[in-house]
Amino acid sequence: MKVVASDRPWDRLACDVLAVPVKSGKPLEGLEPLDDALGGWLREAVALDHFEGKRDSVLQVLTHGRLPAARVLLVGTGAAEDLTDAGRRAAAAAARHALAVRARRLGLWPGAFPPTPEVAAALVEGALLGAYRYTRYKPDPSPGLESVEVVGVRGAAPAARRARLLAEATYFARDLVNGPPNEVSPTFLARTARQLGRQLGLRVQVFGPPQLRRMGAGAILAVGAGSRQPPQMIVLDYRPPRARRTYVLVGKGVTFDAGGLDIKTHEGMETMKADMAGAAAVLACLRALPALGVPHRVVGVVGAVENLLGEAAFKPGDVVRAMDGQTIEITNTDAEGRVVLADCLAYARRFRPDAVVDLATLTGAAMVALGYHAAAILGNDRDLVRSLVEAGQRAGERLWELPLYEEFVEAMRGEVAQWKNSGGRYGGAQKGAAFLRAFVGPHPWAHLDIAGVAFLDKQEGQAPHLPKGATGFGVRTLLRWLVEG
Ligand code: BES
Ligand code: MN
Ligand code: ZN
Repeated sequence: MKVVASDRPWDRLACDVLAVPVKSGKPLEGLEPLDDALGGWLREAVALDHFEGKRDSVLQVLTHGRLPAARVLLVGTGAAEDLTDAGRRAAAAAARHALAVRARRLGLWPGAFPPTPEVAAALVEGALLGAYRYTRYKPDPSPGLESVEVVGVRGAAPAARRARLLAEATYFARDLVNGPPNEVSPTFLARTARQLGRQLGLRVQVFGPPQLRRMGAGAILAVGAGSRQPPQMIVLDYRPPRARRTYVLVGKGVTFDAGGLDIKTHEGMETMKADMAGAAAVLACLRALPALGVPHRVVGVVGAVENLLGEAAFKPGDVVRAMDGQTIEITNTDAEGRVVLADCLAYARRFRPDAVVDLATLTGAAMVALGYHAAAILGNDRDLVRSLVEAGQRAGERLWELPLYEEFVEAMRGEVAQWKNSGGRYGGAQKGAAFLRAFVGPHPWAHLDIAGVAFLDKQEGQAPHLPKGATGFGVRTLLRWLVEG
């Protein structure tokens, strides 16, 4: 897809849809020249349709040759003051409209809003996020967008290029998460990582069962034991010359979570192909780093495994030993993510990282607490948590901190082993994080529980830029955090 941003005037852009974000209550404010160019049709259509500019609402007007654009599309932004978050959302609504009318060339103009490079970036990002479809197994009748062009913004090209890279990385994660679990297996994730390594010159290592046994990674091995698919620990290393800092990103890659012997219900299992969304986000980030020119060494560690119920499956009561030697009593085979991450977090220590960030669809409790609308963040370092929350704000991805009280750590101490993997019903997201903390080294660490935000199957969580299915949550936040600090 062609993506362009320039200071070209809005009345010089040939396209199928020229989208213009407008303020709620005053949808024509500042658009007199556009209305004049259309001979008053805009005003007429606004009145006729009672168009108020409510958030995500659109009004289409045909230009009948009065402009090089075939249609003008007003897009409501609600009470927005600027076009950062609102621009992303409006552009996404415009892109979805464009797809619906089978338009190919989408133009975007900030209209009455200040035309900054950040706004151009938000428009590009939103348009691409909104135009996403998963078409691998079911072709879509709409041909899809051929170009997205932002007009009327000076100096926007670099910001637009970066926005495009962020959106493409998000697509990559969404495709992996939307992929069916009979295709997207641990081995598939490993193959995908190796491909990325070849394409981008990243060092990629994959540890299968023999290596994991030699490394003493008894935790990930235990979770994978119930499946014919061998577990894989996947390590990708982006190491630019004169790297400033070292960061490790850890991703939960449970390619299907049936719960193990503590089997889930039908409803509980329905979306569990998405239990590798953390891993997908990590792979997507690593893929984007070279093009973004991130000046830090970034290591991705993915624990890829299927949690099934085969005859060799791990059982309640089992005691397993993680890579760092600590012992874990399995009290619930459905609390498998933290067991996998124990080995991954222990492995991360060897890079002597300046910070470790893990992403995991870890607990239903995070979803109970925050719904579809924010990921939970917990960690051992104020500055790290704060910088991630701020990066999330810039990316339009909400991170909400939950407390990691000592009591939660106490709740995870085992009877017959040092730790147990489930610790009672209440405060589940905090207890999951408290368990993880036991395997984290002396470095700053933050944990993003993305259970509620990674995959949207209900209408409630959806938005123009977050269509049904995988959201790619975390990719844009982490990339902004790595690029902007
Ligand atoms: N993958 C699930 C968590 C999850 C639930 C993600 C809903 C997305 C949507 C995780 O492995 C799990 O089953 N967690 C258990 C932990 C419990 C047994 C301590 C949970 O949250 O119920
Ligand atoms: Mn589970
Ligand atoms: Zn899980």
